[in-house]
Amino acid sequence: MAPEGRLPDGANGEPQHLRTVFGRMGFNDREIVALSGAHSVGRMHKDRSGFEGQWTPSPLLFNNEYFQLLLTRTWEADDNAKPRSFSDGKGNTMMPSDMALVKDEAFRAIVLEYASARPLSLSLSLSARLLVGWLVGWFVHET
Ligand code: HEM
Repeated sequence: MAPEGRLPDGANGEPQHLRTVFGRMGFNDREIVALSGAHSVGRMHKDRSGFEGQWTPSPLLFNNEYFQLLLTRTWEADDNAKPRSFSDGKGNTMMPSDMALVKDEAFRAIVLEYASARPLSLSLSLSARLLVGWLVGWFVHET
């Protein structure tokens, strides 16, 4: 895991938490949503973060399914899970911090835009794309 406080806390579902942490790195709402699209790939591991599961059915593909699922599925809180997470009942899981992207109106409008964009990369600003690459590397090295 990254050192305390450098990345948002997945268990924190407050949109403002994402703005506080990413805002310190100079990211705006658009960039926060774009970067969060990285959760299109990979998965959560019980022994690492405490969360378990994958965000999409295709964790090896970088696409905009993460955004589509956030909007189109009914996410039920799994109150037995610790930390608390959300399930669509079809094998996909979201952390409270992922849900913050559809809870907040401004974030949600951007999620909607990315969810309908094809391909995803067309809708992202060049800077956001470069930063995704940089951050993935940074994230992997810090974990
Ligand atoms: C919005 C704030 C974010 C939070 C709260 C967050 C939190 C997490 C957590 C808890 C995991 C699961 C770790 C594990 O159990 O193995 C994870 C995985 C991952 N995150 Fe994030 N993350 C955030 C943003 C990002 C960003 C900005 C990127 C890259 C641009 C990113 C890329 C990834 C990837 C690729 C994985 C999967 C790793 C794997 O499969 O082992 N995340 N994230």
